[in-house]
Amino acid sequence: MNYKDYIANVPDFPEKGIIFRDISPLMANGPVFQEAIQDIVDFAQDKEVEVIVGPEARGFIVGCPVAYELGIGFIPARKKGKLPRETMEKSYGLEYGDSVLQIHKDAIQPDQKVLVCDDLLATGGTIAATIDLVEDLGGQVVGTAFLIELLGLKGRDKIKDYDLLSLTQYD
Ligand code: PRP
Ligand code: MG
Repeated sequence: MNYKDYIANVPDFPEKGIIFRDISPLMANGPVFQEAIQDIVDFAQDKEVEVIVGPEARGFIVGCPVAYELGIGFIPARKKGKLPRETMEKSYGLEYGDSVLQIHKDAIQPDQKVLVCDDLLATGGTIAATIDLVEDLGGQVVGTAFLIELLGLKGRDKIKDYDLLSLTQYD
């Protein structure tokens, strides 16, 4: 499957000089979306994954169907102020702007094996913050999976110790 055929390239969004990789066409196409999710499920298969964690918002779109397919739970890492109970939080820098992610303190059991899913790996700030939250709660990250990797931003250098799957890459 050439996933790039289903990713729209939008120049100068949300800022001048950034090419936004829009996964909406991929998500809107049932068989293509299904194949993308199945690729991640296959990657997860031998890892004994017990729970999926995904960062808001597009990490939900990717992570939830993976969890459903594996028959395991999904835990959201949400942007600050959205979770109602006690949280841990982590600040991180994005390709543009800064943000804070939070996770419920009781979301993960000690040593629970976690696969972290998101749509896109750019600078790696989001995934690194999500991994930190999982590990602060005692979870064990057994892999990370993305639809898209932007190679030029070298996000994978931030998460060298973790097994990584990206379904398609851009320079
Ligand atoms: C986008 C994307 C990834 C992140 C990747 O999220 O969905 O989560 O940026 O960038 P990074 O590797 O440099 O951290 P963003 O917070 O922009 O928006 P979203 O709420 O739509 O997911
Ligand atoms: Mg995101």
